[in-house]
Amino acid sequence: MNRVVCPGSFDPITFGHLDIIERASKLFDEVVIAVLVNQTKSSLFTVQERIEMIQEVTSRFTNVKVDSWSGLLVDYCVEKEIPVIVKGLRAVTDFDYELQMSQINFQLKGIETLFMSTAPAHSFLSSSLVKEIASYDGDVSSYIPEPLAERLRQRLALVKSTRIN
Ligand code: PNS
Repeated sequence: MNRVVCPGSFDPITFGHLDIIERASKLFDEVVIAVLVNQTKSSLFTVQERIEMIQEVTSRFTNVKVDSWSGLLVDYCVEKEIPVIVKGLRAVTDFDYELQMSQINFQLKGIETLFMSTAPAHSFLSSSLVKEIASYDGDVSSYIPEPLAERLRQRLALVKSTRIN
């Protein structure tokens, strides 16, 4: 069975991520979406909330599962016997970082990374930009599924109401 993992912070999952996941689900027997910690980013949603949101918008894919892991991605791959990571590449700006990650993941545990090019319609899209747009009450309905947009609006309102300055 060909199993692959699509890792990410997914805070929140976007149409760009979903496009890669859907395309990967047609190429491989099983796709595991793994919510991991990216130490360079702070998160708006808890890991459990991100899992719930991903499950909600991927339930139509019969061979897609959602999981989480708090350690190294390669240790997850070894533990779950998943030999391949699938990642989307948006533009050349992603390349240096993704290449470095793929090389270190191969060097650490022999885990391969396959890159899929993001659909041009999503090449500018990132969870960070979506959060920024939503924080200024901008319309994010083209970037994330509507139920998630509503959750994002509610979370940002809560954050705003608890902010001191
Ligand atoms: O969606 P992101 O934030 O670009 O995803 C990055 C992620 C979470 C896949 C990456 O930070 C990651 O693999 N984190 C787990 C820890 C790890 O394995 N780090 C890389 C090797 S040092």
